[in-house]
Amino acid sequence: MSEKISYFMKKYQDRIESLLLDVFPKELSCDPTVKASMYSLLAGGKRIRPVLMYMVAEMLGIELSCVDDFAVAMEMIHTYSLIHDDLPCMDDDCLRRGKPTCHIAHGEAFALLGGDALLNRAFERVLLSVSKNPNTIKAACCFAENTGILGMIGGQSIDLASEGKKIETGRLCELHEKKTGALINASCLVPYYIYAAEKGEDKSLYDLIRRFSSGTGLGFQIKDDLLDVQADQQVLGKSTGKDQRDNKSTFVTVFGESTAQKMLDDTYGDVYDALDELSSRGFDVTVLRQFSDVLQNRVQ
Ligand code: IPE
Ligand code: IPE
Ligand code: MG
Ligand code: MG
Ligand code: MG
Repeated sequence: MSEKISYFMKKYQDRIESLLLDVFPKELSCDPTVKASMYSLLAGGKRIRPVLMYMVAEMLGIELSCVDDFAVAMEMIHTYSLIHDDLPCMDDDCLRRGKPTCHIAHGEAFALLGGDALLNRAFERVLLSVSKNPNTIKAACCFAENTGILGMIGGQSIDLASEGKKIETGRLCELHEKKTGALINASCLVPYYIYAAEKGEDKSLYDLIRRFSSGTGLGFQIKDDLLDVQADQQVLGKSTGKDQRDNKSTFVTVFGESTAQKMLDDTYGDVYDALDELSSRGFDVTVLRQFSDVLQNRVQ
């Protein structure tokens, strides 16, 4: 990894880590639901959604402080989605971020509530941003749409309903684009909407960021499917081989490993094309290009 990308990833990861420390009021720190939420929130995820949000914000020349509330809210939504995804009624997993899953450590009831608390608190944070800066209203709508039934929840619904069934390629892409792509999409579009509220709508810029984020989101989940069969469980920090076990519809279980790898490379081809076009419009995409390379070749 080059020094430049390590520097930027660390800068944004440190920023989000410190903001996540006090998402709940101090006086609630002994509440069992808050304990369950914080157990998972501070368990050391890669923070790629906030990192992407900060990178797109910097590319567009937006102050990082303008997206902080959204970055925190996004990581809270992502963490709640993982807590619920691991529950026995969903993927029934026991390892997450290198630690026992939330329901193993805190029991099912508090894991469920811990996820709910993160979800609701995340929206409080987004509303706080809108009340401080009404220019963020469209960013908030984009955030809400992508985290709900039209986005991540919708994708989880298709994922669970497709267990043990043959699904078409188009439906599999929709599943991935929603369950994982939607949060990544919103992470890239929130800074665009804040930029557009200040500088005016720019349809072709929106389309380019959308192309970049769609490829990044789809690619992230195809890679996740590949890591499920290729990664070392210790390095990955979550159990492997579970997609086959659960009869999941993934790019690997449907097409096999080598076709899935080819689809991942094609998807990243589109990501780099979008970045080239953003660059030819005068945006500095050096950091985003290096980060895309990190994501495409990640081992965890
Ligand atoms: C895991 O996401 C679930 C998917 C959407 C593929 P991450 O790979 O970003 O998990 P953490 O946040 O680093 O634990
Ligand atoms: C989960 O996808 C995506 C979410 C919205 C949480 P997976 O079920 O493939 O994620 P992992 O492999 O458990 O992290
Ligand atoms: Mg799942
Ligand atoms: Mg899972
Ligand atoms: Mg997976």
